[in-house]
Amino acid sequence: MKVIIYGSKYGSTKKYAEYLAGNTNIPLIEYKEVKDINRYETIIYLGALYAGGVLGMKKTFKKLINLENKKIIIATVGLGDPKVLENTINIKEGIKRQLSNELYKKAHIYHLRGKINYQKLNVAHKTMMKLLYKKAKSLPDDKKDEETKTFIETYNEVVDFVDFNSLGPIIEDI
Ligand SMILES: Cc1cc2nc3c(=O)[nH]c(=O)nc-3n(C[C@H](O)[C@H](O)[C@H](O)COP(=O)(O)O)c2cc1C
Repeated sequence: MKVIIYGSKYGSTKKYAEYLAGNTNIPLIEYKEVKDINRYETIIYLGALYAGGVLGMKKTFKKLINLENKKIIIATVGLGDPKVLENTINIKEGIKRQLSNELYKKAHIYHLRGKINYQKLNVAHKTMMKLLYKKAKSLPDDKKDEETKTFIETYNEVVDFVDFNSLGPIIEDI
């Protein structure tokens, strides 16, 4: 049996998960609702990135006992551009810290781009982003990479990189 599980705070990861479920006819569950992770042979996990962590992923996979004959697909959803190698290296390092070695090696990992609406963030997240913004702005110009510049330019706006076409390789993998 296959399942799509998602961890989303503001909805962009949920949108990707819903699109994927609609295209593959695979049941969709939020990570908090998973009852028995061990009953599925194929687990597709979509999780939003928050300070390098994949929302709900560690909690979900902690209960997975036997990896034999399992297919695991993990897709992260974040603002960083996955075409920038440094970004994917950092995300993968984060995933590695949150999973067992065996599971990490087994997982097929993908990266998707999400959305942020600063006005809709909760107080803690607004504060975190403000601190990051101040830190980014204070960097000397030659230390600001393209991502940092984009972050500074788009701070406090709605930034939407959601692209359902980027699910293509995942659909093929499934
Ligand atoms: C406090 C905070 C921390 C974030 N940390 C990261 C991060 O480490 N890497 C990244 O690529 N995006 C990061 N983001 C952007 C989110 O991953 C992005 O907005 C994502 O689409 C949110 O998914 P959701 O709408 O499903 O919650 C962060 C956003 C917030 C508000």
